[in-house]
Amino acid sequence: MSNLLTSSIGRKLLMSISGLFLILFLFVHLILNSFLLLDGVFGLETGQMFNAGVHFMGTNPLIKVIEPTLALGFIVHIIYSLILTFQNRKARGTQSYASGNKTSGVEWASENMLVLGIAIFSFLAVHILNFYMKMKGFIAWEGGEVEFPFFGTMAKGENAYALVNETFKSMPIVLLYITGSVALAFHLAHGFWSSFQTIGWNNATWMPRLKFISNFVAIILGGGFAVIALAQYLFF
Ligand code: HEM
Repeated sequence: MSNLLTSSIGRKLLMSISGLFLILFLFVHLILNSFLLLDGVFGLETGQMFNAGVHFMGTNPLIKVIEPTLALGFIVHIIYSLILTFQNRKARGTQSYASGNKTSGVEWASENMLVLGIAIFSFLAVHILNFYMKMKGFIAWEGGEVEFPFFGTMAKGENAYALVNETFKSMPIVLLYITGSVALAFHLAHGFWSSFQTIGWNNATWMPRLKFISNFVAIILGGGFAVIALAQYLFF
């Protein structure tokens, strides 16, 4: 166990597993956010589907257990990315700077994972202030409770839709979300296949396939979040 935390490969393994777990979270998050674009479906009023989804996530006992795990996943991923980057820089010493040679064939994203990570982290800080802190009552906002259909009955909950819709009325905020999503896409385009490589799934047959899936995951997640923010600004 201590090896897992202190050896270089152990740390990489923890980063990979936490990264894959975060990707899983992002898929669930994107599916829920896509409800923002469902206007007036199944006879529901605008926003009712999203509010019901947020209510489900906020009240489901399983999700309540997953939430602290998610926070831990972020912490592990960030701390180990910093440790590994500084460890690698120390190991390389002045060598890399002396040669001035950029390794050809190494994608831009793979060389800029830390910078991309910092960009995503900065975006996330604003995002948590925008939504999470308000939804959980840490920051006051003029929302109020609304009613929506929920598994055959009517439920009451925070008007999350109004909060998101109000937030995305601002072009600078939408641009920030688009920038954060693009950074996320580049981070995932390298991070996804690299995680599998670390886990040991790196044979000649699967590597090209994993790189293809990586790009797909990056486009769906990065593109998805960006399109939702833009669509809310333009059409809702
Ligand atoms: C269109 C883009 C997005 C929208 C509309 C959106 C919406 C939301 C909302 C409404 C919440 C609060 C949920 C609650 O407290 O009940 C939330 C939380 C959160 N979002 Fe996003 N989000 C977007 C993109 C992203 C992206 C790109 C990331 C990660 C890189 C992300 C990560 C998180 C995290 C970690 C939380 C806190 C945990 C949680 O409440 O589930 N979100 N988001």
